[in-house]
Amino acid sequence: MEQLGQAREYLEQAQRITALTGAGISAESGVPTFRGDQGLWRSHDPMELATHQAFAKDPKLVWEWYIWRRSLISKCKPNPAHEALARLEREKPGFSLITQNVDGLHRQAGNTQLIEIHGDIWTVRCTRCSACYEERSLELEAPPACKECGGLLRPNVVWFGENLDQTHIARAWEAASLAQVMLVIGTSAVVQPAASLALVAQKAGAYVIELNLEPTPNSDWVDASLLGKAGEVLPRLVG
Ligand code: OAD
Repeated sequence: MEQLGQAREYLEQAQRITALTGAGISAESGVPTFRGDQGLWRSHDPMELATHQAFAKDPKLVWEWYIWRRSLISKCKPNPAHEALARLEREKPGFSLITQNVDGLHRQAGNTQLIEIHGDIWTVRCTRCSACYEERSLELEAPPACKECGGLLRPNVVWFGENLDQTHIARAWEAASLAQVMLVIGTSAVVQPAASLALVAQKAGAYVIELNLEPTPNSDWVDASLLGKAGEVLPRLVG
């Protein structure tokens, strides 16, 4: 794989490296992706489960789905791809990690410079008093109540139609613009604004490496498009 060799050299030389990850990086850990044949959006309607309107209509149903996902994710461990990115953070002080994943597996692998632009399934937010806190219990009753005020809690994730946290977006944009190498791993690259980050990096002069099981809308213009499983290819790329 000639592309892998060249990508590896760029990565070794670079000091400022930014990675953007999507559901594909957690697939080998057993966390389902959203799109594709086995994806969650094949069997579940995102409009019924991952929008503010769905939650307003039926918070119990939405929470039952999140409680099911929390239980599933709780059984999953970081895989060699997560571990490779944790290694990269230890070796390169200018490393930033932007993830669309809410599963917490990057943190579990040891990454600390983490921008979770779609939120975190292990924290909750009160719809009444806005308290936001970690809640790791697997015994939650749907829908759970806020420990501060008794109000209705929601998962601290971003739903379709909602704005991303402005601080997160600003940090993600900055990390992409400053990168010498931008890694885009396991994302279908169709959900904005994350999908634009690779282009932001490329326009600012970064060498862009994509790693995915299959080609994406970015594959034609990235500098290296590596096809394969993240858990197998990323450890070879990072070393
Ligand atoms: P998707 O499910 O859209 O895409 C997963 C990508 O990972 C696909 O391009 C797969 O080809 C690839 N993939 C699967 N297994 C892989 C593996 N082992 N190694 C490498 N690549 C693999 O997930 P995202 O792009 O993360 O948002 O989706 C973006 C957002 O859409 C999610 O954060 C979620 C979803 O709706 C919200 O819920 C707001």
